[in-house]
Amino acid sequence: MTKKVGVAGCGALGTIVCKALQKGLTGYEFVGVSDLTTPDFGVPNLSFDELASVSDMVVECLPAKVVPELAKAVFAQDKDLLMISACAYLLYPEIDEMVKESKGRLLVTSGALSGLDAVSALQCASIDSAIIASTKQPKGFKGAPFIKQMGINIDEIVEKTLIFKGNAFDAAKAFPANVNVAATLSMAGIGPEKTQVEVWADPNVAGNTHEITVKGGSSTIISRVENQPDPSNPKSSMLAGYSVVAALKKMNEQIAVI
Ligand SMILES: NC(=O)c1ccc[n+]([C@@H]2O[C@H](COP(=O)([O-])OP(=O)(O)OC[C@H]3O[C@@H](n4cnc5c(N)ncnc54)[C@H](O)[C@@H]3O)[C@@H](O)[C@H]2O)c1
Repeated sequence: MTKKVGVAGCGALGTIVCKALQKGLTGYEFVGVSDLTTPDFGVPNLSFDELASVSDMVVECLPAKVVPELAKAVFAQDKDLLMISACAYLLYPEIDEMVKESKGRLLVTSGALSGLDAVSALQCASIDSAIIASTKQPKGFKGAPFIKQMGINIDEIVEKTLIFKGNAFDAAKAFPANVNVAATLSMAGIGPEKTQVEVWADPNVAGNTHEITVKGGSSTIISRVENQPDPSNPKSSMLAGYSVVAALKKMNEQIAVI
């Protein structure tokens, strides 16, 4: 059965998803978008309520602070939400309450991270520790609450510098647009309190790098990904957009690696 899908947020990542849907993804009908601008993907630009009403599943590619409003519209109508802004799930506990009162599902994509397949498998046995180290160019952290609170001048960072160390909860508050990968790892693994996060700024790094080390009874998982930042938003990696497209494909394919 064809699933009707809408996209909320047509910035750097949403555009990747919209282009794939516009080109055609087997099993999906692209029914609409919701954005503050007027994106031209051949489908109507709707309010969150309208988008949820015409969709079976809504793909979220919004700033984290807008996600609760979308989640409210989607879950009140018992629809599914495919989420990219995993930080929003940690920052706004009301999203969890909304899902639990709904028949809809909350699905989070792997985003810019690698190795989550193995983390999910190990989680079925036991995980003792989970650490993620994320490294970006200093400009990728511009506007982050932690940078403002600590009065850090990112233009003065001339070598690789550890700018934050803490758990995934505190990391989400400090860098809501940068540590979605840490939030996703915490959801797949041992939760936000136990997941340790390091945020590094490095003026000499070309892309956005994430390295996870997850240890459990039967395995040690070490995975590292080096991503190209999206040209229109250096905070985001293009791989995160492709992860949504891959998730949509997997949910529909007769033969899939899941
Ligand atoms: N999970 C991951 O690995 C990962 C990786 C990168 C980015 N992200 C997250 O994905 C999200 C999208 O990232 P992006 O780079 O595409 O951001 P972006 O800023 O390029 O795009 C956001 C879009 O949302 C739209 N928007 C904002 N407020 C809106 C509202 N009230 N109603 C409708 N539209 C609204 C904007 O117009 C814009 O087009 C961000 O939260 C980002 O932190 C997640």
